[in-house]
Amino acid sequence: MIRLLSRIPGFRRLWLKFPIGSVALRTEHDIWDRKAYAYGVYSSAKLAKTLGLDKISVIEFGVAGGNGLLQLEEIARQVSDELGINIQVYGFDTGTGMPPPVDYRDLPYVWEEGFYRMEPEKLRARLRKAELVLGNLQDTLPQFLNRTDLAPIAFVSFDLDYYSSTKTAFGVFDGPCETRLPRVYCYFDDVVWPEHACHNDFTGELCAIREYNEEQDRRKVAKLANLTWMRPHPARWNEQIYVHHEFDHPSYSRMITPQGEKFRQNRIV
Ligand SMILES: C[S@@+](CC[C@H](N)C(=O)[O-])C[C@H]1O[C@@H](n2cnc3c(N)ncnc32)[C@H](O)[C@@H]1O
Repeated sequence: MIRLLSRIPGFRRLWLKFPIGSVALRTEHDIWDRKAYAYGVYSSAKLAKTLGLDKISVIEFGVAGGNGLLQLEEIARQVSDELGINIQVYGFDTGTGMPPPVDYRDLPYVWEEGFYRMEPEKLRARLRKAELVLGNLQDTLPQFLNRTDLAPIAFVSFDLDYYSSTKTAFGVFDGPCETRLPRVYCYFDDVVWPEHACHNDFTGELCAIREYNEEQDRRKVAKLANLTWMRPHPARWNEQIYVHHEFDHPSYSRMITPQGEKFRQNRIV
């Protein structure tokens, strides 16, 4: 019934204005401003629950004005209420806008130093629970991973634009394995912009992903295959969801299929 209604033109826009229904239902039908964030937070929180965890962390790398972080915070609050899991929210940024590009791989024909300046105090005043970590990731990330109160990282949004900054941000997977889930849901903002940026495997975020995968033997960042075909409302963000797989993580091979015959039998037709 909801599937049929959701295909009526304008129905989902109206639903977004009056967001009734469970987080699960609204995530299925993309009734969120940041649909990819909702999908990533909800999917990763469900995985964490299945693995018996009671708290997780979600991260936005690249905050700028803070629209994304405010949305992430609100999504985390609602997912937390629905699934009964504590969700810590972190946002990382220089606080002073884009650093200088390192070389052509940072796409200096698209971005340059000083883009996306933020007003940290204004943003902090609007945040309820999320923590803003300011400074270049090169300096802030190693300290962050040493925190004793860090809940396992479950979802990460990479929105740093540059190849070099994204490469640095992959350091988030270098801490002890308890600092993250065996599969961490990831969103990459800068992999889809064919007309202007011409994203490809040799520059930008896609280059950082390719190099990470070449350098790592037992860890891989892999696109979530065929998401577009599996969603009721295919959308651009479906192309931007990846998962960080860590094959040696102690929980990587733990069974997560629910109990019950129906999940363990082929259906007789
Ligand atoms: C496109 S903006 C982020 C937009 C934001 N996610 C949103 O949805 O509104 C990119 C941000 O990445 C930050 N950034 C880029 N390289 C960085 C680095 N090495 N360390 C920390 N922040 C960095 C910049 O300061 C900039 O604010």
